[in-house]
Amino acid sequence: MEMATSEAAEGVSERLGADHRRLDDLLAETKRVWADGDPETARRRFHAFREGLERHIEVEERVLFPAFETLTGTTPDGPTGGLRMEHRELRKLLAEVAVQLEEAPPAGRAPVLPVLEARLAAHNDIEERRVYPTVDRLARKTGALANLVHRLAMF
Ligand SMILES: [Fe+2]
Ligand SMILES: [Fe+2]
Repeated sequence: MEMATSEAAEGVSERLGADHRRLDDLLAETKRVWADGDPETARRRFHAFREGLERHIEVEERVLFPAFETLTGTTPDGPTGGLRMEHRELRKLLAEVAVQLEEAPPAGRAPVLPVLEARLAAHNDIEERRVYPTVDRLARKTGALANLVHRLAMF
């Protein structure tokens, strides 16, 4: 259909994928600065990362996952249920890392930081390979993509 191609050049994949990259950079920067022995800067970077990830998770849970469920005819017990559970785990890790960065570092160790990084990478990979492209494809087909991307941006 002609309309489908002209609608919303930027999709969910581009928008939320770019947010994944931005957050990855903040977390990598946190790790690097922490290893360099600059805990103050590391805490500031991590704070920005944490706020950004919390907001990203909220957008997904309030806007994207309901859209995925509607478009695919699945329920919160389906694929989005697993992703919501991972969000809860990520939030727990965020809190643990924050505590480790606050405490005087024993020999500069923040052991939960790489765990958070690995879990987040696995989670983002599933979203980028299975969830975002599915929503883009189905929402484009029904002409709902522009409105959806707009709602992601409004958040
Ligand atoms: Fe997510
Ligand atoms: Fe995400």
